[in-house]
Amino acid sequence: MNHTSMPKPPSLLRNPLSFFGLAVAITSTAFGLPMMFVDMFSRRTHPYLAVLVYLVLPFVAAGGVGLVLLGALWERRRRRRRPGMVVPPLPSIDLNRSAHQIAVAGALTTFMTIVAMLSVTGYRAYHFTESVKFCGLVCHQVMKPEYTAYQYSPHARVACTQCHVGPGASWFVRSKITGAYQVYAVTFNKYPRPIPTPVKSLRPAQETCEQCHWPAKFFGAQQKTFTHYMADEHNSPWQIQMLLKIGGGDPSVGAPAGIHWHMNIKNDIYYIASDEQRETIPWVRVVEPQGRIAEYMSMESPLSPEQIVKSEVRRMDCVDCHNRPSHIFRPPDRAVEEAFETGRLERSLPYLKREAIRLLAQEYPSEEQALSAILKGLAEFYQKDYPEVYREQAVAIQQATAELQRIYSRNFFPEMRADWRAHPNHMGHLNAEGCFRCHDGLHKNREGKVLTKDCTACHTILAQGPPEEVAQAKLEAQPFRHPVDVGMDVTEFKCSQCHTGTSGL
Ligand code: HEC
Ligand code: HEC
Ligand code: HEC
Ligand code: HEC
Ligand code: HEC
Ligand code: HEC
Repeated sequence: MNHTSMPKPPSLLRNPLSFFGLAVAITSTAFGLPMMFVDMFSRRTHPYLAVLVYLVLPFVAAGGVGLVLLGALWERRRRRRRPGMVVPPLPSIDLNRSAHQIAVAGALTTFMTIVAMLSVTGYRAYHFTESVKFCGLVCHQVMKPEYTAYQYSPHARVACTQCHVGPGASWFVRSKITGAYQVYAVTFNKYPRPIPTPVKSLRPAQETCEQCHWPAKFFGAQQKTFTHYMADEHNSPWQIQMLLKIGGGDPSVGAPAGIHWHMNIKNDIYYIASDEQRETIPWVRVVEPQGRIAEYMSMESPLSPEQIVKSEVRRMDCVDCHNRPSHIFRPPDRAVEEAFETGRLERSLPYLKREAIRLLAQEYPSEEQALSAILKGLAEFYQKDYPEVYREQAVAIQQATAELQRIYSRNFFPEMRADWRAHPNHMGHLNAEGCFRCHDGLHKNREGKVLTKDCTACHTILAQGPPEEVAQAKLEAQPFRHPVDVGMDVTEFKCSQCHTGTSGL
């Protein structure tokens, strides 16, 4: 028989699997393209839309194409095995017949309805994935510490994506790729506890924080009152009033001076940290606008020239000081003091601060166990040491218990091992090294100039002591007075050597 005279066999693609694959590929492309345009032309960032458009849909479309090919292979094998097989023809549609008209119209309407419904639900779903709720709640267990702390922070109304992703396409896609890995890590329980800080891939603050905060803003000096309570029987208050020299970084808006001036705008500061947490900073370089370069080396832990060349150099930005703008995990002593100050804890309960710190700072296997230990522990202490107080102030003790449990739930997350120790706050220098990572008086440049640890370089103390005294005092610059005599000049040390968040224990 002559091959050429034979009618061409029907296409190998004519099989159910290939049809299905084709439908998948066409539908996902039909969804993906419009969404891609939405994404490209909208001014807001749509982090999770990108997951869909750039990661999920292409895979689905590729899968569809794969199915088409697989179907063709399968069909070829089938025909080889059964050579005489008759391939059924495609059904023919005749639009002159009213039954066919109705069927076609019905099929088209159903198809359009499904497309419309899918677009609406898809659009809603996508908006949900972009929301704070999605970031904070979908991986509930993992994000609980950050989400909880965030809700009680000055940035509670700022969306997660505004700090963690920011505007523009490239960071968008980057966040998608890390996001995809995170989904995997959570699904297979491979995530670290706690989630490590600093966030290595955090976008530079110029492109996130500075979208809202004008970096040239001049703050001047701000008067701030710190109220503390001692861990003694009376929970005695102690106040420190100071002028914080925040200043500004742009000479066109204010005198260039203060904390914000030296750190950011017209000059660059680079540093090397010798640990992952950026707690130990042996080397710092300043490049001033006039081009003057100064390098400071820690005399405690100097680096060799080879080590400097090998190390990763980071440019300092807002987050090196404001590392907890939104996820603030308070240390036990500060959290308790805040509750005294706002009246949520009753100051007349003897040794309440000491006992509260003792109960909060312990290691517990779970939040549940912590809450019951607090309930039991506080009651037992007063029952045993202060039976009259236990009887007469029963309500205050109950309220204190509830408040301590609340403090615990907001600041300590044993399941994720997240608390003030895992996430120290770099503002100031009392409970963590903070500014003293560089300003410890031990970083020197070649000319012998030291990065200042002068107690008046960053702030001026105007008054200090018990609140009655502070209220009467004439405000004037004065040297720091440590509230208790610890038998040494504390200014010679780093405050955080003793103040680890549990001072008074
Ligand atoms: C005001 C800006 C801001 C907002 C809003 C924000 N974050 Fe953060 N987030 C940060 C900064 C800054 C860090 C710490 C970066 C560092 O030290 O490198 C951080 C760290 C984290 C970390 C790492 C663990 C840790 O505690 O350091 C996670 C997880 C996180 N954020 C999740 C979220 C989630 C979820 C939301 C929304 C509910 C959110 N963030 C909102 C700024 C923000
Ligand atoms: C979407 C806008 C937005 C972004 C992004 C943003 N902030 Fe803010 N930030 C605010 C607003 C609004 C306030 C004032 C909140 C208030 O006082 O109620 C604020 C307050 C602050 C304060 C003062 C906090 C206090 O205790 O009073 C600091 C410090 C700060 N932001 C730092 C940062 C840093 C660092 C980043 C980047 C990691 C950042 N912000 C990102 C809007 C933003
Ligand atoms: C050298 C460390 C350092 C750097 C870098 C830094 N800040 Fe600050 N900032 C401070 C200190 C210290 C304060 C005063 C804190 C306080 O009031 O308790 C402050 C205060 C602020 C305040 C609040 C002022 C107020 O009215 O309470 C804002 C907002 C702020 N900084 C934003 C930023 C932004 C945005 C950047 C990055 C462009 C930045 N800071 C970089 C140390 C720094
Ligand atoms: C990464 C290291 C580093 C950290 C952390 C750091 N600084 Fe600095 N600071 C510097 C350098 C470098 C200079 C500039 C020294 C020079 O002029 O050569 C400087 C200068 C200053 C000055 C000006 C001092 C003067 O001589 O007049 C102030 C004020 C200041 N810093 C405040 C702070 C505060 C407040 C913090 C913590 C919130 C802080 N710094 C954290 C590196 C650091
Ligand atoms: C490099 C800048 C810098 C230097 C040097 C510095 N401080 Fe501070 N200090 C700060 C900042 C910033 C804060 C505010 C932290 C905050 O707002 O929570 C602060 C806060 C304080 C407070 C109040 C803390 C509290 O919670 O009550 C005391 C007290 C204090 N400093 C004492 C000192 C003493 C004593 C020295 C000298 C050994 C010193 N400081 C040197 C930056 C500095
Ligand atoms: C040698 C250890 C030591 C050093 C160093 C030290 N302190 Fe203290 N500090 C204490 C002790 C102990 C108390 C009393 C705790 C109590 O009874 O509440 C205390 C109490 C305080 C209090 C009252 C609030 C509180 O937490 O109890 C402040 C404020 C304070 N210190 C500031 C500082 C500052 C600022 C520095 C650094 C310049 C510093 N201390 C360095 C041991 C130290």
